[in-house]
Amino acid sequence: MTSELITDIGELSTFAGHEDRRANAALVIDNGRIAWIGDAEHPPVADVRTSVGGRAVLPGWVDSHSHLVFAGDRSAEFEARMAGTKYAAGGISTTVNATRAATDAQLESNLRALRDEARAQGTTFLETKTGYGLDVETERRSAEIASRGADVVTFLGAHLVPEGISARDYLDLVTGPMLAAVRPWVSFMDVFCERGAFDVEQSREVLLAGRAAGLGLRVHGNQLGHGGGVALAVELGAASVDHCNYLTPADFDALAASDTVATVLPACDLSTREPLAPARALLDAGITVAIATNCNPGTSYTTSMQFCIATAVLQMHLTVEEAVRAATRGGARALGRDSGVDAVGSLRVGGRADLQVLDAPSISHIAYRPGVPLTAATWLLGQRVPT
Ligand code: NIG
Repeated sequence: MTSELITDIGELSTFAGHEDRRANAALVIDNGRIAWIGDAEHPPVADVRTSVGGRAVLPGWVDSHSHLVFAGDRSAEFEARMAGTKYAAGGISTTVNATRAATDAQLESNLRALRDEARAQGTTFLETKTGYGLDVETERRSAEIASRGADVVTFLGAHLVPEGISARDYLDLVTGPMLAAVRPWVSFMDVFCERGAFDVEQSREVLLAGRAAGLGLRVHGNQLGHGGGVALAVELGAASVDHCNYLTPADFDALAASDTVATVLPACDLSTREPLAPARALLDAGITVAIATNCNPGTSYTTSMQFCIATAVLQMHLTVEEAVRAATRGGARALGRDSGVDAVGSLRVGGRADLQVLDAPSISHIAYRPGVPLTAATWLLGQRVPT
C-alpha cells in the first residue's frame, strides 16, 4: 500500500473532539486509515504527495437516513403539493406498487445510481432503509439489495399498513416472518410512528421485536404532528429519532436527558411544507443533532448533503460548524458509529480515511455558496473515488 501525504490544506476540519478546525495542517493516509495529522511544516515521509492547493479538507458526509430501494416517480404528487395539496403518508403506497413490480436488477441499478450520485457529492457513509415492499418477499429482496449498496441497512417494514391486510395481521407479519426474512441483512429496526401509519403501542411492539432480534432501534417520529414518537424512542433507547418537526417541551426534556440523536431532514421539511425542525433549539438544549437527506421519491428526492447543510444554516439558524458537524459526526452518532475502530464522520489518527476536499478554502462556503456543488475529490477508506 502506498502512503499519501495530503498537504497545502486551506482548512482542516476533523470533528474528532478537539481542534475541530485548524489551519496549516496536513495529513497522511496509509492502508485506508489516517496515519498522521499535524503541522504542514513538518510532515513525515510518504510515498506520494498530493497538494490540495489551499482547499478545505473535512470528513465525508455520513448520510444517516435515506430510502433508496424503490422504483417509480412521484413528481406529479410533488407538483400537486407545491400547488397546495398537503402531504399524507398514504403516498407511500404509490411507491410500494412500483417497487413490488420492479426486478431486482432495476432496484439495484437505481440504488447504485443514487449512491454514486451521493458519493460524487462527498457522502462516504450511507444508511438506507427497506419500507417500499411491505410484503415478506419484497422486503427481503429490498434488504438484500440495500446491503449491496449501503453501509448500514434498516428494516422499515412498519412504514405503512398496506392495502388488503388488517393492522393486527400486518404487525404479526412484520414482527414475525418479515423480520426473520430480512434479519441477515439489517442492523436497525425502524417504525413510522405517526397518525396514518403506526400509533405508539403498535410502534412499541415493532421496536421491541427488533430489539429481541438483536437490532438497534430508530424511529420516524413527530413529522406531521405532535405525537409519542420522540418519547417512545427515548424510552426504548433508540439510537435516533428522525424528523422531529413537532416537539413539545417534554420532548425536548426527554431528548436532553437521553443518548438518542435528533435527526433533522431539512430537504424533506421544505418538500412537504412542514415547519422546519427546531434544530437551533435542539442544539441549545444540549441535544445531539444529525442532518441527513432522507432521500426518497416521496418527500425528499435529493442526495445532496450540501443542500441540507446550507438549509440548516440559512433557514434553521445553525452555525456553519454546527451544521457540518451534524452532517458528519452527528450522523455517525445516529448510526452508533462515532467511536471505536470503525468510527466514521471524523478524521483522527488510526481512523478510517473517509474524507473530501472542497473546491473552497473553508467549510463556510457550503452555506455561503448555496446550490454550488463544492466537493472536488473524495477518498473512501483511503482510495480516491472516481468522479
Ligand atoms: O421519511 N416519513 C415516512 N417515510 C418517508 C417518506 C415516505 C414517502 O412518502 O414515500 C420519510 O419522509
